[in-house]
Amino acid sequence: MSQFDAKAATWDADPVKVARSAAVAEAIRMWVPLSRDTRGMEFGSGTGLLSFFLQPDVGQLTLVDSSEGMLAVAAQKIADGKIHNMQTLLLDLATDPMPVQRFNLIYSLMTAHHVPDTGQLLRDPHTLLEPGGYLCVADLDVEDGSFHGEGFDGHNGFERVQLGALAEKAGFSGVDFSTVFRMTRGAGDGARDYPVFLMCCRKP
Ligand SMILES: C[S@@+](CC[C@H](N)C(=O)[O-])C[C@H]1O[C@@H](n2cnc3c(N)ncnc32)[C@H](O)[C@@H]1O
Repeated sequence: MSQFDAKAATWDADPVKVARSAAVAEAIRMWVPLSRDTRGMEFGSGTGLLSFFLQPDVGQLTLVDSSEGMLAVAAQKIADGKIHNMQTLLLDLATDPMPVQRFNLIYSLMTAHHVPDTGQLLRDPHTLLEPGGYLCVADLDVEDGSFHGEGFDGHNGFERVQLGALAEKAGFSGVDFSTVFRMTRGAGDGARDYPVFLMCCRKP
């Protein structure tokens, strides 16, 4: 069972996660011209919060995640909304073969820091994208490990310069970063700020 399965039922009840997704969707819209020709894939979609903000203006979206619980919530929302241009795909990005479909937009929010091999995480979208396709990755700037706390074995955020260099090495061009959201944890003197960046680039 994925650690995220247990969180799936209450994931959407957190207003910060909803606001974060709305902010990232807005930033993606500023970078990517969405249309009925847009065939997108979100990796690590969770319940699909971000994808639901993009869905009305695209052709087709595939929500990829390794958590059955997360995708079950996403699938229920798709069914409840009678939405015909979204589908879920259970897949572990670290271990499973890539899907056979090809896309012109691949995007992600708060997932890259959970996947050990960031280079692979960027090379796979390069394979899955058609020429001219967009990759948009939103995640934490480098932090001191306090965001997840003890026991977390993923990345404590990312240095933008290093991530951008990895994207270029994977074959992307026009790498651009912006700060699209800020989360706060704690209060008073102990309050910490966790900026979220959006990296956008294109497959030439
Ligand atoms: C922090 S959650 C973010 C969910 C969603 N993007 C959001 O912002 O609400 C990270 C998501 O990535 C998924 N995930 C983590 N590692 C993964 C992997 N190797 N393959 C596919 N999904 C993965 C988790 O199951 C989880 O749904």
